[in-house]
Amino acid sequence: MELNTLLFSVENGIATITINRPDKMNALNKEVIADLSSAFDEVYTNKEIKSVILTGAGQKAFVAGADITEFIELDAAGGANIARIGQENVFNKIENCPKPVVAAVNGFALGGGCELAMCCHFRLASENAKFGQPEVNLGLIPGYGGTQRLTQLVGKGKAMEMCMTAQIADANEALAIGLVNHVTTLDALLQKATDILTIINTKSPMALSKIIACVNKAGKADGFETEINQFGECFGTPEMKEGVSAFLEKRKANFG
Ligand code: COA
Repeated sequence: MELNTLLFSVENGIATITINRPDKMNALNKEVIADLSSAFDEVYTNKEIKSVILTGAGQKAFVAGADITEFIELDAAGGANIARIGQENVFNKIENCPKPVVAAVNGFALGGGCELAMCCHFRLASENAKFGQPEVNLGLIPGYGGTQRLTQLVGKGKAMEMCMTAQIADANEALAIGLVNHVTTLDALLQKATDILTIINTKSPMALSKIIACVNKAGKADGFETEINQFGECFGTPEMKEGVSAFLEKRKANFG
């Protein structure tokens, strides 16, 4: 797997994927989108990987958006194409990843950067993180799922205001509106993500993948039905037998 724009490492079952264009604020150009798609294909299939931290290189930006330099030549079909390819190959692939994916937001998360953080299963932020959907300043709207996922995370009124004003939320505002779960110092960010994933990695991988599938269905017509079916599918699996037996035998479950 050749990745020119990402750093990719695996330690103790945690893959750390770092978008590595710090001189361009880690902006998402076509190559980054293609590399992210390949990196998450690897996450889906590599049995050594149990969970993922997604972050940005440097101390200033997680991702400052889609690469604006690629926009100027595009017509309507080209614009739709860039949004469709990104959503299908990266943003939806991350959201539906059967292994937990945490965004460690280490600076600007604007436009496509905010959208990238939002397609992860949850988000941590360093104190210098800044979130926003400033596309309206460019005569654009969010195109990587921002109008949908921001609304799901913070509610319709706040999402409307953020997209309409291009206002930037700092880390503590993001915490207050539920966009991030924790705020740390920049130095402590990756360790905090590692600590949370170290706990998660002791849990049943089968159950984790079903939690992701069900929570992703929240608010959709088949959400409750999905939960019923996924709950049922847990029964009789080796992991469910191990978890329940461990409780009854007063020992810690070992899911391998
Ligand atoms: N696309 C392409 N290049 C970008 C970029 C983006 N989204 N965001 C930053 N860059 C580039 C800058 O053009 C600059 O490149 P240069 O050194 O070749 O001139 C470099 O990254 C550093 O950015 P700079 O603007 O000098 O840093 P700053 O600290 O003054 O400002 C931001 C940081 C994030 C506030 C500012 O870069 C910005 O507003 N970026 C665009 C945010 C945006 O609108 N995103 C939504 C896109 S749809």
